[in-house]
Amino acid sequence: MEIKLNKACKIEGTVEIPADKSITHRAVMLSSLASGGSVIKNYLPSDDCLRTIAAFEQMGAKIKTEGSALYIDGAGLKLQKPQKEIYAGNSGTTTRLLCGILAGQNFESVITGDESLSKRPMQRVIEPLSQMGAKINSNSGKLPLVIKGASPLKAIKYTSDKSSAQVKSAVLFAGLYANAATTYSEPVKSRDHSERMFQAYGAKVEVAANSVTVYPAEKLNAQNITVPGDISSAAFFIAAALIVPNSKLTITNVGINPTRDGILEVLKKMGADISIENIRDVSGEPVADIIVRYSKLKAVNIGADIIPRMVDEVPVFALIAAHAEGITKITGAKELRVKESDRISAIKGQLSKMGAHIEELEDGFIIEGNGAELSGATVNSFYDHRIAMTLAVASLVANGETVIKDCECVDISFPSFFEVLKKICR
Ligand code: S3P
Repeated sequence: MEIKLNKACKIEGTVEIPADKSITHRAVMLSSLASGGSVIKNYLPSDDCLRTIAAFEQMGAKIKTEGSALYIDGAGLKLQKPQKEIYAGNSGTTTRLLCGILAGQNFESVITGDESLSKRPMQRVIEPLSQMGAKINSNSGKLPLVIKGASPLKAIKYTSDKSSAQVKSAVLFAGLYANAATTYSEPVKSRDHSERMFQAYGAKVEVAANSVTVYPAEKLNAQNITVPGDISSAAFFIAAALIVPNSKLTITNVGINPTRDGILEVLKKMGADISIENIRDVSGEPVADIIVRYSKLKAVNIGADIIPRMVDEVPVFALIAAHAEGITKITGAKELRVKESDRISAIKGQLSKMGAHIEELEDGFIIEGNGAELSGATVNSFYDHRIAMTLAVASLVANGETVIKDCECVDISFPSFFEVLKKICR
């Protein structure tokens, strides 16, 4: 699906952002592993999350949808062997977290995925889970994965060289099936939704600065969870309001978990007019309304210490940096090369086509913000939802028409993206 967009006069109004993808995945997984009936209100019915739901239905969880709620009758920690392979589509979170759960089962299972997912690195989960006793065969560290679980798994102390919430969560899930306490440490704390939710479902977890210890569990308790809005989806509208002159936008119900709010911190440093209001707790996660006004921004340098807190926002941040005064350097973001697309190369290529001054680094970008006016062009999303949405925001400040290819990929995290965008563009 090709989308054609034109320059916007301003961004105005109030929008509610769809539910958080990371939290929806985890809520479905934990509810499926719990004993009894859980309710997940305001879940995200995006393609990635539907893959997780389908996987657990295959393994014995009974899952019903009613409006925006999911009713899950859990299968318990020991799942049923799936009758056929589990297809994870485009979803890295489904795949990697599932590996941790399948590592603790008494059966052999197979995970496959689409073309993009089949190119993404899985050795990062194979390594710790193999140390714990699972037997995992892969296509040289890529999908398909054949996972033969062990029971119990061997508890480990694992120090990761990267900050990845997916790897951390895989090890934590496997830790529920281990013979003793399992500890996972990482260089910079990655998103901590798993740690928060494990405790809500009754698992024993101890959290230190950059490490987490999980204890084996006999059972998990069903929960009622409400999923907050996704800051990674909100980021596209924050960007739009910041760079389109005369804009003012209120975004309601946004999760502002401190392991996810790096984008807000960096934008404030750049001089962005962003206020965070009505902070409240929703099912153990901090949530707020965010008011953003068009701002004159100044360049900043960001590196490995903050990237894990804004890893999915880097593409749209690069666009914002192209509108700041001065040169922005982004480093420590090499992980972007192994996301749904090579996001460093995609952003460099497509924003340059539109006239932005961007230099590609192995682990980031150098972006010259001074007054580069963007022009409409035909650009490629590479079937990557966050690239498609970044280019859509870029089109709002570009002269002439922008044509974005393969936009159906927004369904991965934000199926209503273009409808919401239309509502706030004047
Ligand atoms: C996610 C973790 C991040 C993020 C992804 C979702 C999660 O990936 O990019 O969109 O839900 O745990 P990494 O763990 O690879 O950093």
